[in-house]
Amino acid sequence: MGIYVWGTGCGAAELLAQGLAADRIAAFVDTYRAGETFLGRPVWEPERLEGADVELLIVTSRASEEIGAQCRALGILEQRILFLKNAAWVVNRNDVCTAAEPVLGAELLGRLLPRQYLVTEPAALADSPLAGERESNDYVRLASLELLCRRLDAVPGAAAELGVFRGQFARCINRLLPERELHLFDSFAGFSSEECGDPAFQEAHCAATPEQVREILPHPQAARFHPGFFPNSAQGVEARFCLVSLDVDFGPSTLAGLRWFWPRLNPGGYLLLHDWGNPRLPGPAQALAAFEKEWGRPLPGVPLPDLGGTLVLCRQG
Ligand SMILES: C[S@@+](CC[C@H](N)C(=O)[O-])C[C@H]1O[C@@H](n2cnc3c(N)ncnc32)[C@H](O)[C@@H]1O
Repeated sequence: MGIYVWGTGCGAAELLAQGLAADRIAAFVDTYRAGETFLGRPVWEPERLEGADVELLIVTSRASEEIGAQCRALGILEQRILFLKNAAWVVNRNDVCTAAEPVLGAELLGRLLPRQYLVTEPAALADSPLAGERESNDYVRLASLELLCRRLDAVPGAAAELGVFRGQFARCINRLLPERELHLFDSFAGFSSEECGDPAFQEAHCAATPEQVREILPHPQAARFHPGFFPNSAQGVEARFCLVSLDVDFGPSTLAGLRWFWPRLNPGGYLLLHDWGNPRLPGPAQALAAFEKEWGRPLPGVPLPDLGGTLVLCRQG
């Protein structure tokens, strides 16, 4: 019975640096270095694992999908495979691995797998101000917001969200930009009946009030609430912006939001168009196409692979 390590790259080096002694490793597995030694241990080609007495196979390569399939073909039990580069997978591939803890011990295993799966506890957010923001379950959206906010120091203006609902995303903006005014626009009564014909979708979005949103904001003194249907609710609002979240699900309200916010966004600022790439909600993308025609040219933007397919529109000088 032995420990085998798949890969002889920096992942393997990191494994040893974290505390797995090289002399506990029966062999490394790597097609490209088969027959050589690595850190004093033999390197095998994968085929030699077939029939070997594998107590634990530690996969240090990122190609976990392919290697997992290869291991299955070689007859290695899933319970005996630990994927160290698991962080890019939405599903925790190590759920089925029962051999790792008895073989490596809980302490070393804890060091090797710090918050390895995205949805439950995103690794890159662990030390961020948004570390506790798990309700939205959208790592890419939150981590992108954090990185975008780091680029706003030299951009004047307030922050805003059109389409606040219960304020989960507004809370993240408020946490990251505590010194900025945060303008919050929502009907707090769901969608207009012309836009949303689905009673269940409508009902799901009615249960929020400005008071409830205010209660969950870490810096509520920065918030300026504008309840009512947009764009009427924006009448008399005198502000310019560095960051806007536009998240109203349907086309006409999105178009109204683009018409109002884009000219008020300062150079260097960002407008996050939520659901631009969401096949279930085609309205935001259609609204952007209509607005670009009015504006006379395409707006520069970067799409995100978050759950809603957000498009980050970047305002230039
Ligand atoms: C998907 S929710 C917003 C979710 C929120 N941005 C978040 O991530 O936590 C959409 C919201 O847009 C609001 N809304 C849609 N059209 C609107 C309009 N024309 N004026 C004001 N609010 C609107 C709805 O009331 C609903 O609360």
